[in-house]
Amino acid sequence: MTVTVTFHGHATFSLDVNGTKMIVDPFLKGNNPLAQTAADDIDVEYVLITHGHGDHVADAASIATRCNATLITNFEIADWFGRQGVEKTHPQHLGGGFNHPFGYLKMTPALHGSKLPDGEYGGMPGGFLLKTGKENIYIAGDTALFSDMSLIGEHEIDLAILPIGDNFTMGPDDALRAVEFLNPKKVVPCHYNTFGYIVQDADAWAARVNAETSAEAVVMSVDSSITI
Ligand code: NI
Ligand code: MN
Repeated sequence: MTVTVTFHGHATFSLDVNGTKMIVDPFLKGNNPLAQTAADDIDVEYVLITHGHGDHVADAASIATRCNATLITNFEIADWFGRQGVEKTHPQHLGGGFNHPFGYLKMTPALHGSKLPDGEYGGMPGGFLLKTGKENIYIAGDTALFSDMSLIGEHEIDLAILPIGDNFTMGPDDALRAVEFLNPKKVVPCHYNTFGYIVQDADAWAARVNAETSAEAVVMSVDSSITI
């Protein structure tokens, strides 16, 4: 039982969960300035969406349609994608988990916005807590720091994926505090260096995490993978 996580730049990650493939917040080559992988090269069974902003949903409909994948997100966004022609959606909502074939997936709160690209209301933004039975992975989504991350930290997190870009989400200082609340074994930063507003030194942040917390920070280059 292993989970392999591949970073595509910004907040886009592919996960291989014991052989089940999924992508989180697909924003790929042609849309995402950092991405090297195109949406057409993605082959997944599930698409997970944290919130409705364009830098998280840009390639979701095309991937879900071509792969006949199930799109998992909040009720409002699932309904919107259904009306865009995505046939398989699974709506969840904040605080709600479901036993999918690949594991228990819970939507967690996030402090952010969620307007969809056409202006429609995208419900409350969220993140995901995935419990495979062996590994626990927390994907924060775009969010401010909130102290209830300490409750998520009670789940013995093996890997936390946190935004560090500042301006739209937590910046480096708040993300460091988030690591303290979550107490994960490993932490991967995301949502930085894609646009001018969110330029950050991820290596410097990782050095602080490694010096000041018990977590191991891993700065992933684009298209690199880690296995936990
Ligand atoms: Ni956002
Ligand atoms: Mn974003």
